[in-house]
Amino acid sequence: MNRHHDAPEGNGRMCLYRRVTDIPSPPCLHPWSDVWINAAGWVSCCPQNRMWWGNLRETPLERLWNSDRAGRVRRNIASGCYQEAGCDRECPYLRNSFQGPAHAPPVLELINPEFFDPMDGSDYSKNIKEVETAYRERQEHLTCQPLFVDLQTTVRCNSDCFMCQQPHRDEMHLPIALMESLAPYRATAGFFRWQGGESFIRKDFTAFLERFDDPDHPHCRRSVISNGSFLGAELLKRLILVDRPPFFLISMDAVSEECYRNIRRTTNHAKVMTALETLSQLQITLGRTDLVTWNYVVMKSNFSEMALAMDLAERWGINLNFAPLQGKYPEENLFLFPELMDREELLLRLADMEDRAKELRVRITGFSGMRQRVSNRDTFRSDQPETIIPTP
Ligand SMILES: C[S@@+](CC[C@H](N)C(=O)[O-])C[C@H]1O[C@@H](n2cnc3c(N)ncnc32)[C@H](O)[C@@H]1O
Ligand code: SF4
Ligand code: SF4
Repeated sequence: MNRHHDAPEGNGRMCLYRRVTDIPSPPCLHPWSDVWINAAGWVSCCPQNRMWWGNLRETPLERLWNSDRAGRVRRNIASGCYQEAGCDRECPYLRNSFQGPAHAPPVLELINPEFFDPMDGSDYSKNIKEVETAYRERQEHLTCQPLFVDLQTTVRCNSDCFMCQQPHRDEMHLPIALMESLAPYRATAGFFRWQGGESFIRKDFTAFLERFDDPDHPHCRRSVISNGSFLGAELLKRLILVDRPPFFLISMDAVSEECYRNIRRTTNHAKVMTALETLSQLQITLGRTDLVTWNYVVMKSNFSEMALAMDLAERWGINLNFAPLQGKYPEENLFLFPELMDREELLLRLADMEDRAKELRVRITGFSGMRQRVSNRDTFRSDQPETIIPTP
């Protein structure tokens, strides 16, 4: 078992995010702890920030991490200027408001996870402390290294979800050699994550994912976000029944086949259900509860299936995250368009579900973010002009 992941969550001394953001209006931690690298090689501090620091195909990560642009993003976020920093205000931290949250959102609803300090004198443990100092001092030039490395392996995908604006027929992808060149960062990072597009559409991805585990750096966890459609039982056994299995976030935004098909515009529903069921059994075999999370993007057309999803998650013993839809979809985005559901009704129905979730043994997350998105909904369109997105 990965002892770092199993570190007691109640021990606040070991939890970086909890420790540093326990102040009024804390700035988002990402610019001090994270890098995001898209399939074209452009680098920023998170998938929802568009202030690119430069391109990994031309400039080493070390220089991008301390580039003028990265420093400017840190300066802007430190002073609460999220719009100037290139942030998307529908992100899980801002939740519809460029003002920034009065209190830090729960870590389980964020783009990245908590980082546990093993306090063992390792380079990783030292790096967590350096990130903490850099954040507390709002440094612009950093001596710490990224704790979270998030990569978009490809933009290709076998699905066509209406809410995903990626160019899925494009061949854009990160070469394996480029992804492998980041291996030295495993010494100081707590997480590497790969998403897409759909990473498993690539024939070379599985072997790469397996190779990337390194027993010399057991604290460095691997994680994949996937639509689950390529994850047959044999592949999952091969990936999971090992010393340090990767974590999976599997996306399925419905329980019924019909609702799934309307959102994801594929016929993969049965395959994804089977993948989640297999993952559930493998988790049980390993005596784990944390290896797989089901991600469910909440919108108008699947709102009435959320309760069913909670029941199914409970039956499988799989944690479930409700992620509010992002983007201007006037027929679906309840968190942006008040005409789709009255505020009181929406909050009441969410509160009912949240109450029920508390009775379950699995962890159901996302309620705080959805509530906040609804609370900020009415001011969203009136208070600020559109974000100006700098193109690379
Ligand atoms: C872009 S996908 C890439 C990985 C993989 N193809 C998948 O679907 O899981 C990453 C995550 O973003 C979610 N997502 C896509 N479009 C979204 C949107 N408009 N609002 C909120 N989440 C979205 C997906 O459901 C998925 O969980
Ligand atoms: S877009 Fe959101 S999550 Fe990303 S850096 Fe900005 S505030 Fe943080
Ligand atoms: S499966 Fe993932 S990458 Fe593919 S279209 Fe859907 S959200 Fe986008």
